[in-house]
Amino acid sequence: MSTDCSSGSCSSGSCGGAPTELDAGEARMQRTISRIKHKIVVMSGKGGVGKSTVATNIAIGLSLAGKKVGLLDVDVHGPSVPRLLSMRDSKVHIEESFIEPVTWSENLSVMSLGFLLPNSYQPVVWRGPVKMGFIKQLLSDVVWGDLDYMVVDCPPGTGDEPLSVMQLLGNDAQAVIVTTPQGVAIDDVRRSVTFVGDVGNQVLGIVENMSGVVCSQCGNVENIFGKGGGKKLATEVGVRFLGDIPLDPEIVRSGDEGYAFLSVQKESPTAQAIQKIIKPILMLDDGAAPSQKLHPVLPPHKGTIKVALPVTKGTLSPSMHLAEQYLIATADAESKQILSTETVDAPAYEPKAAASFLERLEAGYVLAKEVPQDACDALKAKHISLVKGVTVNAPVAVVTDFIEGKLLAAS
Ligand SMILES: Nc1ncnc2c1ncn2[C@@H]1O[C@H](COP(=O)(O)OP(=O)(O)O)[C@@H](O)[C@H]1O
Ligand SMILES: [Mg+2]
Repeated sequence: MSTDCSSGSCSSGSCGGAPTELDAGEARMQRTISRIKHKIVVMSGKGGVGKSTVATNIAIGLSLAGKKVGLLDVDVHGPSVPRLLSMRDSKVHIEESFIEPVTWSENLSVMSLGFLLPNSYQPVVWRGPVKMGFIKQLLSDVVWGDLDYMVVDCPPGTGDEPLSVMQLLGNDAQAVIVTTPQGVAIDDVRRSVTFVGDVGNQVLGIVENMSGVVCSQCGNVENIFGKGGGKKLATEVGVRFLGDIPLDPEIVRSGDEGYAFLSVQKESPTAQAIQKIIKPILMLDDGAAPSQKLHPVLPPHKGTIKVALPVTKGTLSPSMHLAEQYLIATADAESKQILSTETVDAPAYEPKAAASFLERLEAGYVLAKEVPQDACDALKAKHISLVKGVTVNAPVAVVTDFIEGKLLAAS
């Protein structure tokens, strides 16, 4: 690998190297990226939750399904993909102008800083711009070829590496966020979701790893830490839940021994759980759209607004016609503050009556999960704006997200 400007410092603009060389590097990177059909970035707020395990197994699963896959480990501080694939002794083939990724199988090529370090104990201390330069080089100098998928394993958090990866790969890179039942920290996941949104990318979904334990005697999954937190969290932050993976010693063994867990243990509950997670990712390439694509909702930006939300048993109603009550929130769109809330009983459902009722309450917006078509029409006739396909349950959180521009909805 060259150790010139493109190794990092130049990308910070500090060495003023020849622009033509930089342009050539940039052009090479763009060419590489243009040959990758789908980019999946695996990230999490915390370390040790199983990002590398999830990234590795997604990559293996996609490759076993016949897709051409590149697995890129950008964790410069703790590159663990070589260990998880039992490739610690593998070395990359480096030529003057390009690097060949390491081949794990016919369909899966791998690149990690771990292949370039003399030993796995060597600490790496790099500044942000250098990391950016290194990641750039992994995308420009490594000959990945035509890929159906590139899966990127990031270090924990929302720091330089995920930021560089998203910026370099572009806005069509989608994030998979990994969490655990113990670490189901709403703030961590929210931070990751916000980070992805802020850089202009989409979250493909959340994976709950270490969800229950596979019993070494009977093979059944025991939910000793509780389960379902990831799913609830996904709903709360408005993204898709991809599935959960139990804690399974066989996963660790497969890594140590270097076999494909997903093919050798394919009947096990763990392998099936991983395949379930991979399914919507495979659908990206097989032409089917994800069943629930969420989009950011434009926030109101002027004046005092009134927002109405259909509520059933304290949470957002599954459909507007099931509303027992309406939460009416008055908010200031400029300062993004909720000024007051009140709850009013809903009249017996009839689409036009519901729209007239909300008009009398001076509601300018309705935020809901499902709304029957006749009610959509009735609201439109009253010039009440409708956001439907909301996935968050807590009504006040929906209003807060809406006025702060963080609300995601299907339509
Ligand atoms: N579902 C699982 N079952 C068993 N061990 C797991 C599982 N997920 C991760 N591990 C183990 O936990 C440790 C941390 O996982 P890793 O994927 O390296 O996490 P991260 O990349 O988030 O730091 C590794 O030793 C890995 O083998
Ligand atoms: Mg890792």
